[in-house]
Order: sequence, then C-alpha cells, then structure tokens
Amino acid sequence: MSTSKELSIQSAHTVSVLRAIAVKEKDPAVRGSDYLARHFLTPKYSLFVGLLPHRFLKSFVHFRAPGSYCFMITRTRHFDRVLLEEIEAGAKQVVVLGAGYDTRAFRFAAQLQNTAVFEVDFPGTQLYKKERIRETDSRLSSPVTYIPVDFNEQSFDKALIRNGFSPRLKTLFLWEGVSYYLPQPVVEQVLQFVSSCAPGSSILFDYCIKSFVNGDHSTYGGRQLASWLKKIKEPFLFGIDPDETAGFLHNCHLELVSDHGPEDFERMYLKTSKGGLYGKTFGHIRMAHARKV
Ligand SMILES: C[S@@+](CC[C@H](N)C(=O)[O-])C[C@H]1O[C@@H](n2cnc3c(N)ncnc32)[C@H](O)[C@@H]1O
Repeated sequence: MSTSKELSIQSAHTVSVLRAIAVKEKDPAVRGSDYLARHFLTPKYSLFVGLLPHRFLKSFVHFRAPGSYCFMITRTRHFDRVLLEEIEAGAKQVVVLGAGYDTRAFRFAAQLQNTAVFEVDFPGTQLYKKERIRETDSRLSSPVTYIPVDFNEQSFDKALIRNGFSPRLKTLFLWEGVSYYLPQPVVEQVLQFVSSCAPGSSILFDYCIKSFVNGDHSTYGGRQLASWLKKIKEPFLFGIDPDETAGFLHNCHLELVSDHGPEDFERMYLKTSKGGLYGKTFGHIRMAHARKV
C-alpha cells in the first residue's frame, strides 16, 4: 500500500525545502518568511536542512537550479503581501488552490481571525499535510477547511460550495505554483469560477511564459528547471505570453491588477540591507493578480 508521502506531489516537497532553507538567511532584508516550512519536510530533507550550514545549502540549490532560491523568497513574500492587503481590504474568504504545504493559515492566524480559509489540493498531498500537522506542535492549529480535489478530474467549485464556501462573499484565491501544471481549459475554468464570485474577489497566481512551455529554455534557470521537471515527471503544460496576459484574463471576465516579472521582483524583494542585488530569480515565471470588478 502507498504511504501518504508516496502519494503526495514531489514539487510540493521541494518548495517547502527551499522555504525552510531561505528562513536561515542571515540578512533580514532577503530572509525567507515561511518560518513554519520546516514542519512539513520529510525526515530526509529535515536532516539535510537542519544539519548543513546555510551557505552550503544555498550554493547546492544554486548549482542544481539557478534562480530557484531567490524565486522562492520573492514568491512567498509577494503572496504574503497580497494576502495581507486583501484581508485589510475586506476579503471574507481565502481559498488556497493546490495548497501543498502552504502555512499562511498558521502564520497569519491573527489577521485571518474573521476570514474563512479553504485549502484545495490533491488528496495524497493533503493527507501528508494533515499527518504532519497532527504530529507537530499547536502552532499549526488554525481553522482550515481541507477539500481534496484533482482539478483535472473534479469540479473544485462544487466541492468548495459543498464545504461551506459562499460565492457571494468577497474572496481571495491564492494559486501558487500550480497553473503551469494544468491544461489550459482547466486553468480557464478556475479563472472563470473566480469571475463568478462576488465583485472585488481576486486571484493571485504565478504563471510560466509561453515560450518556455513551448521549449525555449534559454531564460535564467530555464535549462535546469526543464530537466528537473522531466525527472520528476511533472511537465509544464500551460503558459501565457506576457503581452497577452491582460487580454487572456479579460476573456475570463477578470481585470488585471498587477503583473510582475523577474526584474520587478529583484527590485521589490531581493535588495540586501546594504542596497545591492542579492541574486536573480527564474527568468520564465511571472505573477499576476486579477480581479472580478
Ligand atoms: C509546486 S506545488 C505548490 C504547492 C503550494 N501552493 C506552495 O506553493 O507551496 C504544486 C501543488 O499543486 C497541486 N496540484 C497539481 N496538480 C493538481 C491537480 N490536478 N489537482 C489538484 N492539485 C494539483 C499539488 O498537489 C501541489 O500541492
């Protein structure tokens, strides 16, 4: 019989490892914000991250996948930032799609006191997460409704509604590290569901540029990422040409709020305390925030 770890998704484990390493960064200006990521590491990764010096871990990650370490710092901080802004602006529900080992429900428990949190993910990934929560300390006990769904097989919107989600309440959807693993019709279904929710609802997601999905791996970190995706058998299926992002979202009845690329993120999140550039992030992933108006 398979264990929950075997059924869970490799990419979800990998991003937790990167986050757990980034928290060990000395310079607070570029330190990773996910101080709970380590609770979700498998025993092997936990040993690796816990015992080895930060400098070694960072160099190892950089050698294997240039851009990935800085990408994880920027993505985590950007998603944290938009989450806090949207709660402040009155979001009543947060839905984390393809949640993996997302820890925001725990890290922002105080800010989310009056906001319902739903996490939707593959059953196997969710099972492993729930096991880890049971086994760790009480810092991981926040009210979250877990909804097991395969986006390719089931309609996640019906599952959400069955589990207490209200499309009439202003909602923030976080879709971090997922869109590129799905076929375009499934991506469009998700975006269209967001557009059927209360005005002001929005979705923050990262997406791959179309040229990378079509085989141009010349971007920073592109070649190494492409060979890793091949190895873990989780290919990128979906991408958008950045010139077409606003139009693509408009066709799904959403208006673009922001669309940031690697240079923006380097400026926003990768400046050291001394003002220098800490490092480079992936050249082929962008992050878009889109709203139902
Ligand atoms: C790279 S991980 C990102 C996890 C999390 N959002 C994060 O950033 O830590 C990709 C996530 O997408 C989920 N996922 C991928 N394809 C999916 C599908 N067809 N249905 C449900 N979840 C899916 C995986 O289970 C995994 O948790």
